[in-house]
Amino acid sequence: MNRKIRCAVIGLGRLGYWHAVNVKTKIQSAELVYICDRNEELAKKVSIELDVPNFTTNPSDIFYNDRIEAVIIASPTSTHFELLKEAAFSNKAVFVEKPLVSNLDEAKEIFEIMKRHNTICQVGFMRRFDPAYAEAKKRILRGDIGKPIYFRGISRDPASPPEEFIKNSGGIFIDMAIHDFDIARYLMESDVEAVSAHGKVLKYPFMSKYQDVDQSLCYLEFESGAVGDVESSRNAHYGYDIRAEVIGTEGTIFIGGLRQHNIQVLTSSGAVHDIVQDFPTRFKDAYYLELEDFFNALLEGYQPKVTVEDGVKAQEIAVAAQESFFKQEKVSLKTSKIL
Ligand SMILES: NC(=O)c1ccc[n+]([C@@H]2O[C@H](COP(=O)([O-])OP(=O)(O)OC[C@H]3O[C@@H](n4cnc5c(N)ncnc54)[C@H](O)[C@@H]3O)[C@@H](O)[C@H]2O)c1
Repeated sequence: MNRKIRCAVIGLGRLGYWHAVNVKTKIQSAELVYICDRNEELAKKVSIELDVPNFTTNPSDIFYNDRIEAVIIASPTSTHFELLKEAAFSNKAVFVEKPLVSNLDEAKEIFEIMKRHNTICQVGFMRRFDPAYAEAKKRILRGDIGKPIYFRGISRDPASPPEEFIKNSGGIFIDMAIHDFDIARYLMESDVEAVSAHGKVLKYPFMSKYQDVDQSLCYLEFESGAVGDVESSRNAHYGYDIRAEVIGTEGTIFIGGLRQHNIQVLTSSGAVHDIVQDFPTRFKDAYYLELEDFFNALLEGYQPKVTVEDGVKAQEIAVAAQESFFKQEKVSLKTSKIL
């Protein structure tokens, strides 16, 4: 029988639950032996539903269990730093949801700790594993559109997540735009050197309490000379809308679309098609594929494809965007870079 990595999931909320389902039901190279959530009732319920032998409300039960090799962290962003430290100190391989941590001081410290402990870490930038984004990357590398010169990223949530989530999320640039910052670096094959960010509260007044906004726009300048823009929104009442464009010197790639199924229904009152409503549906394959690759990397001994460096670099852009938004001026990453 093939070896399976014994693993645990910490945080069983909107996304962690799906990670637990994927590991339990789809991933051949892993065995889910422990789950953890601060909410005991939830941990117990999921352990019964998924037939996971152990549950706890205390992450240390997992980190200091010698039989567990890998941990998936999907608890709120504000908890990542402490949990990542425990993962490094207890020699676990770790898959951590984006963003890596909440701020650059934490990013710098965790990067150094992980380097010292040789921690294997993959960050949950699942768009890189989404079949459409992955195909775009392949075409760019093949030279189909020449040299990439413009990136456009659109990420629109159908509504704001709950206030409790926003409070611990780090804000729209660090929580949401960070997906586009990562995929922009990846597809444009260049780091970002400057950001100008704007934003406004259009629909959710409670955001102001956390110095957050529900609509933002960032203008990116890449080291390669390319430029781009990233729109992030919590206001797309019609559905979950994730798209991107990469314009090259010899062609353009459009990535993603609105439809869940590739059909249109035509009646005498017109034509309609459905729209993807949420992230678990849009990125169903990507969430599975990123975890499958994480466990394969552990078994086969290759570096995870989205590293802690990638996590830090996306965070640098996000923090610069936040600073630019607060100061209302362009921010260069040259001075703030930690890697
Ligand atoms: N990759 C993506 O597309 C994507 C999508 C959504 C969320 N996320 C990320 O996943 C993380 C979780 O987000 P979510 O939307 O699932 O949050 P959530 O609030 O729905 O769930 C978080 C869960 O963690 C539990 N929890 C809180 N503190 C804990 C602790 N110290 N130890 C154990 N459990 C704890 C909570 O009880 C809750 O059940 C965040 O970092 C977020 O940025 C990523």
